[in-house]
Amino acid sequence: GETITVADLAQKMALKGGEVVKALFKMGVMATITQSIDHDTAALVTEELGHNVVRADAADVENELLAHVEDVQGEKVARPPVVTIMGHVDHGKTSLLDYIRRTKVATGEAGGITQHIGAYHVETGKGVISFLDTPGHAAFSSMRARGAKLTDIVVLVVAADDGVKPQTIEAVQHAKAAGVPLIVAVNKIDKSDADPMKVKNELLEQEVVAEEFGGDTQFVELSAKTGQNIDNLLDAISLQAEVLELQAVAEGRANGVVIESALDRGRGPVATVLVQQGELKKGDYLVCGVQYGRVRALFDETGSQVESAGPSIPVQVLGLSGVPDAGDDFVVVEDERLAKDVAQQRDAKRRESRLVAQGGNRMEDIMAQL
Ligand code: GTP
Ligand code: MG
Repeated sequence: GETITVADLAQKMALKGGEVVKALFKMGVMATITQSIDHDTAALVTEELGHNVVRADAADVENELLAHVEDVQGEKVARPPVVTIMGHVDHGKTSLLDYIRRTKVATGEAGGITQHIGAYHVETGKGVISFLDTPGHAAFSSMRARGAKLTDIVVLVVAADDGVKPQTIEAVQHAKAAGVPLIVAVNKIDKSDADPMKVKNELLEQEVVAEEFGGDTQFVELSAKTGQNIDNLLDAISLQAEVLELQAVAEGRANGVVIESALDRGRGPVATVLVQQGELKKGDYLVCGVQYGRVRALFDETGSQVESAGPSIPVQVLGLSGVPDAGDDFVVVEDERLAKDVAQQRDAKRRESRLVAQGGNRMEDIMAQL
């Protein structure tokens, strides 16, 4: 590990070398001013002397963290696909997932509108599939962008009685920007005014070309209400997933991404994360954006406690020091020290850049008054 000389450490705290030697002596460590001590001892004596331990070099701790991620080098095995459901408001995204999961989330939503990213994994006849449900309302563009980035496949839901609408087009653009393959679910075909051919033609204009038109996009005409052809959609997803040959290391320290986060009154900070590599376990230390902590409990989407979660599986994490941002990476580390160091360094950096930004605003204010 790293070491530091007693003299250097004393200088960092603006103390005389002798004072640090004395404090070390009280801790049972014999060292002269010119001798080196290891990081843990240095941290202990620093705290003993009433100073905060923040490692000076942000790049150092980030590199150490990166080494942790690269360390996850077991055998790669097949992993479930992560599928994001996107589309215009009210076109039936949540209803479709409800049918697949045999739940009734859509009917319980305020105003019948999804306002967050729902994350579920489902055991289908075709194996496990993880789904992210995104909001279709115009206001939630950043959530859709995030959903498209985290995913392997986008299922674009278009209501056959309504056709291609602004957020349909937006979803196509997010999927293209993220380089993710699309499957189109032409929904609500049970309705008398359903016109699936119109949907195909309108998507042609967005360069989403159905196989029957010589393109490579799978279209499935279905009904989230009656369940008609939903099996075909699951087949289409499996087919697409096979082509992608999705793999991940399933053992060892986990890393992944925060899908959503919130401060829960009783439980404290709660983060819904998607594991991308390794196995996230109860008791693990992790860094998550500028937050860190030890996993106190893990819950699946039904609210049941689980002991661990592997690749492509969404899981709720309790035990973080604060609420991370959606989109933050998380990395499991071997001990609390590194987790804390990285989180503190990032936090310090963020404060710095905020100060700069605030300064910038003030400057603008001044300019405006001139
Ligand atoms: P946002 O999340 O707000 O963007 O909406 P959504 O795309 O999740 O739509 P949701 O599943 O909430 O469905 C909107 C309405 O369409 C509800 O009243 C559903 O019952 C109805 N609906 C969804 N799918 C079908 C379908 O296949 N057929 C019919 N007839 N109605 C459907
Ligand atoms: Mg919805």
